[in-house]
Amino acid sequence: MIHRLQRGTVPATPHTVFKPDGELAYEHCLTRRGFEGAYTIMYHRKPPHWVREEEDLGAHPGAAEPTWDGAVRRRHFLSGNVPANGDPFASRHLLLANADLGVWIARPDRDDPTLVANADADELTFVHQGSGRVESPLGVVHFSSGDYVYMPRALPHRWRLAGPTFLLVLEARSWIDVPHQFRNPSGQLRMDAPYTHRDFKEPEWPEGGPATLAAPRELKLLRRGRVSRVEWANDPFDVIGWDGQVWPFAFPIRAYKPKTGMIHLPPTTHITFAGGGFVVCSFVPRMLDWGPQAIPCPYPHSSVDCDEVIFYVEGQFTSRRGVGPASLTLHPVGVPHGPHPGRYENSVGVRRTDELAVMFDTFAQLLPTDNARAVEDPGYNRGWVEGTVAGVME
Ligand SMILES: [Fe+2]
Repeated sequence: MIHRLQRGTVPATPHTVFKPDGELAYEHCLTRRGFEGAYTIMYHRKPPHWVREEEDLGAHPGAAEPTWDGAVRRRHFLSGNVPANGDPFASRHLLLANADLGVWIARPDRDDPTLVANADADELTFVHQGSGRVESPLGVVHFSSGDYVYMPRALPHRWRLAGPTFLLVLEARSWIDVPHQFRNPSGQLRMDAPYTHRDFKEPEWPEGGPATLAAPRELKLLRRGRVSRVEWANDPFDVIGWDGQVWPFAFPIRAYKPKTGMIHLPPTTHITFAGGGFVVCSFVPRMLDWGPQAIPCPYPHSSVDCDEVIFYVEGQFTSRRGVGPASLTLHPVGVPHGPHPGRYENSVGVRRTDELAVMFDTFAQLLPTDNARAVEDPGYNRGWVEGTVAGVME
């Protein structure tokens, strides 16, 4: 996705005899968009596709049906109240979803006991709190709070945590990538892109390869809200080497280089990743608009084709009140949205913001699940009623 990498040993030519240990290695091609997109080619010591057992384990405990419950209104979900504890895979709860995107919150406190994978989606996980590493057959990605962690669809992996961790998991159900406009015709990130190739934390190759990670042979595979259990005949991490452009990575949100204008630039200025049917934006500490009459606070707007969700990380958000860390707000299509009373007026002359937040805009309607309704702040939409000040966290 970012650029081509090679780890370990690979043959000079794909699809040819390769016997690095004297035994024929088994090629394993991970391809996107059929066979026409990005790909990675792995070399296993043993056949990677032989299984001992496959069974349906039923519904994922955190999966829930997204449903429309009537009112078009601004909503606020206190994601810090989603039940905590458990492993990253089992403890995730689906809060919002449409055909393009699933939004899960997980607050795990222990490692995944098995390998896990998502057959529905690439996953972009924002680490709100915690640190650790994600192990995969392509190597180990280290993460800490403030990182986005990208995991390609259906790649077996497991999260190993240094302690209690808070994750916002975005399921990109068709695809997610670097926006095409950030690349030059040669595929490099452009010099005016908001990040560089060097900002991405690539998978590290352990001494002796991923086989030394002693990966479990049991895989839990998420597909349409249900979990399948697969027991592999061979170690899925017995990879001798690989090369290609599909690999997991971490990207620190603070590596995002924001742009500021003389007068206010639109939210598209903050785009970080683009997915099928949605974009992900990063709001990071930055200088604000510097023109003498500039209003740095976002203007009220009717973005009539998008639902807008913001996940607040830290700092004082320029346009909002009544929200705090781990607040997840949904501002839907159909009603103008914009700053809370007082924010717009008081922003004139302000030159800096320390806000840190992740925003995603979707074209299709995002529907809440009962997991979201269980942690909803019912008074949030009153915050824009003239003469009132609402908010549970301010
Ligand atoms: Fe907006």
